[in-house]
Amino acid sequence: MSDVFEQLGTCPVIPVIVIKKIEQAVPLAEALLAGGLEALEVTLRTPDALDAIEAIAKALPEAMVGAGTLVEPAQFQRVIDVGGRFGVSPCLTPALADAADAAGMPWLPGAVTATEVQAARERGITDLKFFPAGTSGGPGHLKGLAAVYQDVRFCPTGGVTVDNLSTYLSIPAVAAVGGSWLTPADAVAAGNWAAVTETAKAAVAAAHSARQ
Ligand code: 3PG
Repeated sequence: MSDVFEQLGTCPVIPVIVIKKIEQAVPLAEALLAGGLEALEVTLRTPDALDAIEAIAKALPEAMVGAGTLVEPAQFQRVIDVGGRFGVSPCLTPALADAADAAGMPWLPGAVTATEVQAARERGITDLKFFPAGTSGGPGHLKGLAAVYQDVRFCPTGGVTVDNLSTYLSIPAVAAVGGSWLTPADAVAAGNWAAVTETAKAAVAAAHSARQ
């Protein structure tokens, strides 16, 4: 079985971060950590993403910073080289899985069908991203997969918010949830780090309630 979720810490909420301005990376990460989040997923969708991961890893060694949107095998080692400690991909292919293995990277690939979950298990990967959660059948579909694949754990992302995270986290197979709602575009653009911290705190509180 995989142990990626254990490596990501104890907080079951993972922000999906899109860095548009490199100077925002460290204060944004600080604000998220202050809200109680531990693992930070910086998506490789913007030119500054790798620099942002490096800056966060250097400035905030306590942060479990990693990369999302890993879609090229060559990206895995680059992420490790700049201090990234985990990776997330929207899917699992042999080329991506080989790259994760070669880089020694804790990795959450995406899966939403029984065929995809089966393929992951056949590679020994049982910690998965469930993406895009909302349009792939949501909690009902995930429960169906979990009933069959009882050794698999999921991190739903895509359409997860503070309003529905409890529904996902009340499913035992859901080890964590992720999403971009934790970095509200208006607050980030304005550098309103207090608002980012409050959003994170609200998510952590909702997650805590869902787990009780
Ligand atoms: C991801 O990158 O995991 C998702 O695109 C995040 O989806 P969201 O923006 O709906 O949270």
